[in-house]
Parts: sequence; structure tokens; C-alpha cells
Amino acid sequence: MSKRKFNVAVVGATGAVGNQMIECLEERNFPVKTIKFLASSRSAGRTLRFRGDSVSVEEMTGKSFKGMDIALFSAGGGTSLEFSPIAAKAGCVVIDNSSAWRMDPDVPLVVPEVNPHAVAGYKKKGIIANPNCSTIQMVVALNPIHRKCGIKRIVVSTYQAVSGTGKKAIHELYDQTRAMINFLDYKKNVYPHRIAFNCLPHIDVFLDNGYTKEEMKMVNETRKIMEDNSIGITATTVRVPVFFSHSESINIETEKYISADRVRALLKKAPGVKVVDDVGKKLYPLPIDAAGQDLTLVGRIRQDESIPNGINMWVVADNIRKGAATNAVQIAEILAEKYL
Ligand code: A2P
Repeated sequence: MSKRKFNVAVVGATGAVGNQMIECLEERNFPVKTIKFLASSRSAGRTLRFRGDSVSVEEMTGKSFKGMDIALFSAGGGTSLEFSPIAAKAGCVVIDNSSAWRMDPDVPLVVPEVNPHAVAGYKKKGIIANPNCSTIQMVVALNPIHRKCGIKRIVVSTYQAVSGTGKKAIHELYDQTRAMINFLDYKKNVYPHRIAFNCLPHIDVFLDNGYTKEEMKMVNETRKIMEDNSIGITATTVRVPVFFSHSESINIETEKYISADRVRALLKKAPGVKVVDDVGKKLYPLPIDAAGQDLTLVGRIRQDESIPNGINMWVVADNIRKGAATNAVQIAEILAEKYL
């Protein structure tokens, strides 16, 4: 790690991902010289802890980025579209967790285990995009297989935790669950239908092609990160009543044959992956085991017996950590180490 220390801003510091970004900066001992916590006017004056100190949350304005080196943004797409260019103009490199910049050809989209070299492209706009949570864990698990035997097609179905929608959604699942088990009326504000004891095949908005925006993020972002537009990808994204960690059922078809054992061996050596796959002992990845740590857990690895070159697997990761905050801080580490 570089000897230099950096002035770091966390935008959306009061949110679910922002809170975790602060924790990751602490845990990973990021070389912070000064820290600034930014949010909306609603949170101005609140305090948050950093390395034992109380730090006041400030309202983000056009002047917030003067003298800052790196800003970790997680305050929604609209906020990012408005403020990222302002931060970049002030000389502060933005690592943005929203979907606002991800498909911009002048903005790198980075998963450090897959395409760390892409960070170099930050110079064009001063912005680096952090991918969609479901995409991150999928490419961490699939990239080693793609490099070895070429993935032709991916069919993925997700089982996504409510924390991905933010703090209000965490409260909504908790409140609805408590209301239902007490035979009380429940309220719904965040999701269009009850999330407690239910599954919603609807994440983000519906598009003209009948897919949701979340599903198309998985298609387009995967191709950009794996640097291969030829991969066929189709996704169904589902919100489930789980607080933390997204799960994914992934089916792939490869160019060259690969056995399930070989996939297991390959993934055991892969960066950021932990193979949890011993069905005899009832061991497979679970959201409750993935939550609170940074590895992408992969299990249920087996041959797809319906085609010659197919593999099925079950992939689980903490959506707030590896799916958002940890990945952003890992990008910041590469920036700090190699580019700033
Ligand atoms: P605030 O708490 O002041 O509303 P989550 O995704 O968990 O709901 O968090 C969203 C984060 O984005 C919060 O920290 C929220 O701040 C922040 N945020 C939302 N709108 C703005 C804005 N216009 N300017 C700055 N921060 C914002």
C-alpha cells in the first residue's frame, strides 16, 4: 500500500452502503488523511464514528469536494449524475456505486478480481463505476471459468436481499414480518407488493423488452467487465425476504468441456472465491453464512446433463459488502496504490 494518505469523502454516508463503506475503510486500514461524511440536508449535523472519533455529517454541496482526493458515492443515480462531475472537476476521483455511469464508454466498470487494469481509464472522466451487486458476485465466480474454457451463454436467476434497496427496505421487511406474525395489518411503502413471506420477480423498473433494468444490468455489465460482448446472457432477478446476501442460480454453457470437479478445483484457487460444496455434509452456500464477510461463496457445482458442455452452480455473497462497499474500497486501494 502506498505511503501517501488521502482525503476521502463518503457520499451517502448515512445509508446502508455508505455505513458499510465507512466500516470497510476502517477494517482494511485504508490510508485516510482526512474523512468527510456527506449526505442530504436531512442528515446534516448527525454524527457517525470513524476510527474512534465522532465525525459530523455535512450536507453535500458543489463545494464539498475541494481538496478531496477520492469520493466513494452511494447516494443514488440522480445525485451521482449531478455531483460526480463536480467532484471530478475539483480533482477528486469518484468511485460511484449507482448505475448512472456504468455503461459510459469513458467510465471504467471494475471488479478487482476480474479487470483491475481497467481502473487506468479513470483519467477520462475522473469517475470509476462500481458494478451492480448481482453482477459483481457472478463475474467473480465465472471469470476463471471463462478464461479457461470460454463461456458461450449464461442463464441466471437471482434471489436478492432487501438491503440492496437501502435502509427503508430493511425496515419494511422487518415491520411487515413483525406485523404478520402478530396478525396485524402491514404497510407497504418501498415495494409494490408485500415482501414478507413473498418473492417479487421485479427489481428496478420494467423496460420495453419485458425485462427489468436490474436484469439488463446483469447482461450489459457482465459483458463490459469480462470484456467480451459475445457472451449470451439472460437473467431473471427476484427480491426475496432475506435481509443480507444475494443468492444466484447460475447455468453456463462453455465452448470447451469442463467437468464439475475441474470447476471446483479452478474456483478453489480463484481470487475472492470460497468453494462451499460438500452435499454429503449438507454444505452449500447460504446467505446467513455469506453475510458479514467478503468472499463469494460457490457451491452445488454440477454438470448440466441436458447439454454437452454445461455447468450449474449456486453463488452467494454479501450484497452490501462485496456487492457494493468492499468492491468500492478495493477499487480505491488500486487507485491509491497505482495511480494517485
Ligand atoms: P440521507 O440519509 O440524508 O437521506 P439508502 O440507500 O440506505 O437509503 O441510503 C441513501 C443515501 O443517499 C443516504 O445516505 C442519503 O442521505 C443519501 N442521499 C440521498 N439523496 C441525497 C442527496 N440529494 N444529496 C446527498 N445525499 C443524498
